Amino acid sequence: MIYLIRASRGRGATWELPPNRYMLLPRAASLSYESAVEVAMKARSCLAVVLAAGEGTRMRSSQPKVLHAIAGRSLLAHVLTAVSDAGIAHSAVVIGPGQDAVAAEAKRVLPGAAIFVQKERRGTAHAVLAARAAIKRGADDVLVVYGDTPFLRPATLDRLRAPLAEGAAVAVLGFKPDDPGGYGRLITSGDALIAIREEIDASPNERAIALCNGGIMALGGEHAVAILERIGDDNRKREFYLTDAVEIARDMRLRTVVVEVEEDEVRGINTKAQLAEAEAVEQQRLRKAALEAGVTLVAPETVFLSADTKFGKDVVVEPYVVFGEKVTVDDGAVIHSFCHLVNAQVGKSVSLGPFARLRPGAWLGEDVHIGNFVEVKGARIEAGAKANHLSYIGDAVVGAKTNIGAGTITCNYDGNAKHRTEIGRNVFIGSNSALVAPVAVGDGAYVGAGSIITESVPKDALALGRGRQVIKEGWASRLRALKSLGKRKARAHDR
Ligand code: UD1
Ligand code: CA
Repeated sequence: MIYLIRASRGRGATWELPPNRYMLLPRAASLSYESAVEVAMKARSCLAVVLAAGEGTRMRSSQPKVLHAIAGRSLLAHVLTAVSDAGIAHSAVVIGPGQDAVAAEAKRVLPGAAIFVQKERRGTAHAVLAARAAIKRGADDVLVVYGDTPFLRPATLDRLRAPLAEGAAVAVLGFKPDDPGGYGRLITSGDALIAIREEIDASPNERAIALCNGGIMALGGEHAVAILERIGDDNRKREFYLTDAVEIARDMRLRTVVVEVEEDEVRGINTKAQLAEAEAVEQQRLRKAALEAGVTLVAPETVFLSADTKFGKDVVVEPYVVFGEKVTVDDGAVIHSFCHLVNAQVGKSVSLGPFARLRPGAWLGEDVHIGNFVEVKGARIEAGAKANHLSYIGDAVVGAKTNIGAGTITCNYDGNAKHRTEIGRNVFIGSNSALVAPVAVGDGAYVGAGSIITESVPKDALALGRGRQVIKEGWASRLRALKSLGKRKARAHDR
């Protein structure tokens, strides 16, 4: 059990919480300040309301804004991941009418998320109240996050909630942007937050304020519904502004505070240009982290990573490689230039590419070699197997030490359904073979080059499935003789 008090007293360890508040843990645990805040926040229940009902008009796209991706992960997934990494157990995602794809993405990332539809777009407070049913379930804290601020860190969510644990009713994430244009301004007095003024409703003096509203807000659960329901639409845009929560809370004699962060963390994405800038920032961060973890990136600026790309020790990545979502690369693997990988596992000491493509479900065991112009999908390639040139291996198993000749294709699709190819260990598949699935090739078997294999091949057998070669001696010289005879006749005719 954790107690939060305003001054340190008696036994226990204390941490100073901003501003001049203290937290006491009854037993003197050796925790850092940050983990103390984390522990304190875990003891309180929290509902995160994620606003994603915007159309994102300025993206000029038929796709909802929050589904656009940074580092292979949708904006919404970035936000929901931060929420769940902060240990927040309950989330409600507010979507616009007909945005089924947004609901599906939310469920994919957080299967437990509750989905609410905001039928009309009438402002941020109106959007939060779309999730009224979830809020009424009564969490200690209600955290409002926008679906389009992908750089939020879990620790910041803890920091924002910390003042609620000490009795504040509203905590707002503030920042000082290079260009405050378009943001709500935070009107403060000492460490108290007095009001948030939207730019179009602000006086020139208020517009001169540098401290802006990052858009993330934490509300004390016991007051949240009362505060939200008092918000009206008496402003220039005739919208229900969430930002009015501050003045209303103060009117109710409740405490309201600001927690300041760096601009990068609350960067919102509204346009394709901002999306591209954010991608660049995130790629820089991911490359730096990979280099710091010991990955060799020969030309870091040409390698594209995903938020969840995982590398082992001594991995080498040559120039121009793209890592989509869910890729793991084990120790000692070398990814040669121009490879594209998505949802794939690369085993220890694998050699991949140049020009190889790993599609979802590709699993490469230790020492596997996948060479140029080879595509692998939904296939398990066991240790030491090789497919070095021009192949498609889909919906298959390739046993250890098997050699797949150049140009081999697993014909997995019959125009209607997908079928599997099972190739055993130490198999030799001759070049340019077509393995028509469902089909199996037993351990140690050989398949002659150019074969079309439609029936399973037993262990240690040789399979040949191609037209028999025919030789016609002298055929070509007879053809040439006939041709020159024809030309002489034509010339005689012309004369
Ligand atoms: C909002 C804040 C502003 C702050 C800025 C930070 C308000 C009134 N203003 O302004 O103080 O500086 O964010 O980026 O809150 N949304 C809905 N339904 C709605 C309206 C909005 O779901 O009816 C969602 C949007 O999809 C978006 C978020 O709420 O994710 C913010 O809305 P937006 O219109 O972008 O607010 P801003 O004008 O940027
Ligand atoms: Ca915005």
